Amino acid sequence: MKKRVAIFLSGGGSNMRALVEDMTGDHPARPCVIVSNVADAGGIAWAQERGIPTEVIDHKPFKGDRAAFEAELTARLMPHAPDMICLAGFMRKLTGEFTDAWAGRMINIHPSLLPRYKGLHTHARALEAGDDVHGCTVHEVTAALDDGPLLGQATVPILPGDTPDVLAARVLVQEHRLYPAVLRRFAGGDRSFLMLKS
Ligand code: GRF
Repeated sequence: MKKRVAIFLSGGGSNMRALVEDMTGDHPARPCVIVSNVADAGGIAWAQERGIPTEVIDHKPFKGDRAAFEAELTARLMPHAPDMICLAGFMRKLTGEFTDAWAGRMINIHPSLLPRYKGLHTHARALEAGDDVHGCTVHEVTAALDDGPLLGQATVPILPGDTPDVLAARVLVQEHRLYPAVLRRFAGGDRSFLMLKS
């Protein structure tokens, strides 16, 4: 039985596309639904063109009531019978109730070498700190933001003259390698740490 994967996003969805494109053949998982809190997220149109079910739940009418938003999210998610969730640029904080419900079955990609630079503006912060190495991390999701057991990392060099955008683009290339590689292992039952060499 293939694992059924729900992918949550808020934007362009390039990580979602990398995950979906890898879920073919002998891969132990298949996408079952793409969920967005932003109606015009680029990834939603891409998924619809490929006949992948989509659900859009705009968070704005919930006016910050995270529990009510998540109740609707769950109501729209469960008919797709997901076994696990991949967060792929999903820009809403999830409550402990939601993360507990999916403990051990929800993973996220974050554009830094965790535990460094949790939260936003990771590329600018790495540059400001004068780091010479940066990268991305896939981890299990727990109630604390950008925390939880690490499943894999990929590094990139920081080069003279880098701006946050240039560095973000270099990291994103590695995100597209790392996330599919980790999902393939995780869905197959392997939670050991993967260090991807560039
Ligand atoms: C990625 O850098 C991801 O790590 C971060 O947001 C970005 C999403 O990009 N959380 P995309 O929507 O997958 O293109």
